[in-house]
Amino acid sequence: MAEDLTINSGTKKEQYQLLTPQIEALITGETDLTANLGNVCAALKEQFNWFWVGFYLIKGDQLVLNAFQGPVACTRIQKGKGVCGAAWQNAKTLIVDDVDAFEGHIACSSLSKSEIVIPIYSNDVIIGVLDVDSEHLSFFDKDDQEGLQRIIDLIEF
Ligand code: SME
Repeated sequence: MAEDLTINSGTKKEQYQLLTPQIEALITGETDLTANLGNVCAALKEQFNWFWVGFYLIKGDQLVLNAFQGPVACTRIQKGKGVCGAAWQNAKTLIVDDVDAFEGHIACSSLSKSEIVIPIYSNDVIIGVLDVDSEHLSFFDKDDQEGLQRIIDLIEF
């Protein structure tokens, strides 16, 4: 297993392209989900230095905070609440350019300005979300959606 990441300063697409096989190498052969989610968050944070990146996994009717990197965050989110709960309820990736303009946004930190939330599936059922926050407006786009989706698809949930 690679102990260090090779950090790339190319375009965002190039950064995802270089990072994805490294994440694959990092988690391949490891069956412990907590270990893998922790390393995926660390790798993403190290490469992109986003304000916050983390996983919420569904327990009952709530999303519960799991592995993350960044400041402390809300522990539980109800289905349909906030960007994360909306992504779960609608089974849809949400890219929010300005979180203050998103009705019901849950502000874990006032520094967060834009956000992307991607639902995670296991056997065709949503089991959680990946949430990424930036302190810049309009920070996420289709390249992030595609790059992050590819990384999520590598993880065995
Ligand atoms: N802003 C999210 C809550 C999670 S934190 O950003 C880490 C939301 O509205 O669902």
